[in-house]
This record gives sequence, C-alpha cells and structure tokens, in this order.
Amino acid sequence: MEPLNLWSPATFSEGVPYGYFRHLRDDAPVSWHEHPVWGGYWSVTRHADVQRVSRDSECFSSQPNPFMAEDQPPAANDEFTSGMLISLDPPDHTKMRKIINRGFTPRRVRDLEANIQATVDRLIDQVSARTSCEMAGDIAVELPLQVIADLVGVPTEDRHKIFHWTEMTFGFDERFSPEEQQEASMNMFAYADQMCEIRKKEPHDDLISVLMEGEVDGESLDQIQIDAFFMLLQNAGSETTRNLITTGTMELLRHPDQMRLLRDDPSLIPNAIEELLRYTTPVMQFVRRPRHDTMVGSQRIKAGEPVVLWYCSANRDERAFDNPDTLDVTRDASQHVAFGAGGPHFCLGASLARLEAKMMFEAIIGRFEGLELGVDDPSTLPRLHSNLIDGYAEMPLRWKSVKPAA
Ligand code: HEM
Repeated sequence: MEPLNLWSPATFSEGVPYGYFRHLRDDAPVSWHEHPVWGGYWSVTRHADVQRVSRDSECFSSQPNPFMAEDQPPAANDEFTSGMLISLDPPDHTKMRKIINRGFTPRRVRDLEANIQATVDRLIDQVSARTSCEMAGDIAVELPLQVIADLVGVPTEDRHKIFHWTEMTFGFDERFSPEEQQEASMNMFAYADQMCEIRKKEPHDDLISVLMEGEVDGESLDQIQIDAFFMLLQNAGSETTRNLITTGTMELLRHPDQMRLLRDDPSLIPNAIEELLRYTTPVMQFVRRPRHDTMVGSQRIKAGEPVVLWYCSANRDERAFDNPDTLDVTRDASQHVAFGAGGPHFCLGASLARLEAKMMFEAIIGRFEGLELGVDDPSTLPRLHSNLIDGYAEMPLRWKSVKPAA
C-alpha cells in the first residue's frame, strides 16, 4: 500500500483512513514515516503498543509538546506551549496536575450538572420551532464552551468574546490568518490576567480561584502557568466534546438499528457514549519522545525520535475489540483509548465530557421526532482541517417536530 502523509491535515479531509491503519497494524505496527519538518516519526498503531508507550512516562517524554507538527515549524510561542500541563513530564506535571485536579473533583463536576442540563435544553429549544438546523454551529459548538465558562467562572456578559477568540485560535478554520489567531491568543491571556486580578481582591468559588490558591510542596502556579492552563482548557474541553456530539449523532443516524436500541432503552446511553468514543475517536493522536533508546513491539526506537500514538487506530484494533468496524452500543468498549491510553496525562475532563454527552444524547434521542441527516451523501460534508481532531465542520439535520424538555 502507498504510504500516506499522516502528518498532513489534507489526508484526513475525507475522514480517517481506517483501511490504511488496518494495513499498518497488520504489516508494520510500528513504522517509520517521513515528515517535512521532523525528518520522520514512528507511527504506533496497535492498542497494546499505544498503551505501553502512554503508560511509560519514565521513558517517554511529552516535551517539548505532544503535538504533531504540520509542514511548517511551529510558530513563536514554543516556550509557552512546552509549559502547558499537557507538555510537562513528572515531577513538574505531577505537581501542576495536583493543583488543577482540585478544580475537577466529583463535587465540582456534579455542581455543573444543573447548568449543563439547562444549556442543553436551551440549545434544543432554540431550534425547536424549525424543522432543520446545522448541528455543529447551532447546537454542538456552544455546549462545551458554556460548560468551561461555568467551570472557570467567566461572567455571562463576557462569554461571547471568549467563544469568538476560542473559535479563532482553535477552530481549525482556514478563514483566520496566523496573525489573527495570535491576536486572539493574546486577548485570551489578557482576559485570564484580568480574571486573576479580580479574584486577588475577592476570591470566587471557581476554577480560576482554585488555581490561584493551590499549592504543592510550597509552590503555587505563576501567572503564565494559569494563562497557559486557561488556553489549554478552552481547546481541550471544547473542540473534543463538540465533535463527539456531532460525529456521534451522525453515526447513530447512519446506524438506525443502534439509534432504535437507545430510543427503546435510554439507560443504554452511557454505554453507547463509550462505544461512540471508541468508534469516532475525536482526538486522533498525540506524540511522545523516548529519553533513551528503547523497544516498542519489535521495533528499536532511538532517543528523541518522535513517536505518534494513533488512538484512532488503537480503537479499531481487532486484537482489542471484536468486529472493531461495527458500531455496537451494547458492547463493552471500556478499553477504548479516546481519552488517552492511561498514564499521567489521561484526560482530566473525561467525567465532564461524559456528563455533557449523556445529557446531550438523551435530549437528541428523546426530543427530536423523525430526525435525519440533511444530506443524502454524508461523504460530501466538509470536515475539520486537522491532523489532531476528527470531525465535521458542518452537519445539516432535519426533523418533523421537537418535543418540549422533560
Ligand atoms: C470527548 C471529549 C474529550 C476527548 C476525546 C478528550 C481526549 C483527551 C486526550 C486523548 C488527552 C490526552 C491523554 C494522554 O495524553 O494520555 C486529553 C487530555 C486532556 N484533556 Fe481531554 N478530552 C475530552 C474532553 C475534555 C474536557 C471536557 C476537558 C476539560 C474541561 C478536557 C481537558 C483535558 C486536559 C486538561 C488534558 C491534559 C491532561 C494532562 O496533560 O495531564 N478534556 N484529553
């Protein structure tokens, strides 16, 4: 099979090349690929190997950052990116995560529940008088943004500008130039600084106050670390969840038998979300680099060589899942690696994402009558321009009627 440029967003413009990944898993599970900036990188495609690398943070570092470069060297703010939680190695990572964890306790996630339900109800009410919408923009985009704003403590009147900056910075939208994206990031930092200033005078019960007050071994987070986390959160929490919602809905509509199972028994929805995470894998990959020469599977890897963990391939590995290309909302998909494959960086927002998805899918499945895709051929729908996040830029839906919220 011809090698594909897996570093290039263009390769994913018609969806994840699952057939190519199957070929790699069978014939070259840890294989070397050329890269225009790095020279080359290792692609790790089997579930067991992805887990092994992800869990071995003694050998595999996330520095300088876990992002796959495209065809240009990354822009100026390298130092900033390498200070983000997701780029740190133990013990720095362990300390920072301990502080940040205090903002993600089960109590804090539970406290957000009523607001999440209210946001879901409002988003669906907004389209309920119509019989069609564009799901990505009209419904899915706003839920995670509102939830993060609630968590962080952004006042209602400021949310539209944060949402706009987030879209500009991370929307995988080619309409915005690198300069505009940079400007949006600077606005975001300035906003985070201003939130901290306000809380210095008057602490609130929100994540920004938790970050400012938290200490581990007498050390607290400095302003740059707080700004970096604010940025990471907007990205990690919003792009991912929105695509689980849109692509998940698409897959349920393409598999009416599975949708029917959930309509008949909504208690299956939490299990279905695990299966949709496995089947759709919103975050396709992250990168690690070994500190010393090592083996992955039967392949020798030299210190410093980039190693790409393909979660989208591991989640379709026939060694880990029976009939992996079949969507089955009743299967046990708990071994999926959509939130990472274990180890210190496992998704911090996993329980929040699960809660958001549960409430949204309950509403989509329970309230829309006669829901269907608004196009005959879903393969014509535009996808995100990204080698990191898989999803649709647009997803038209139509329906007959919408029931009021329970
Ligand atoms: C469907 C939704 C989501 C998916 C698929 C997802 C996926 C991931 C993945 C693959 C990682 C890297 C794991 C690793 O390297 O081992 C990660 C890390 C992270 N996620 Fe999520 N995520 C989702 C939602 C969220 C939400 C809602 C938040 C917060 C509100 C969040 C915050 C984070 C943070 C802060 C990290 C970095 C953790 C660290 O480095 O210690 N994520 N996520």
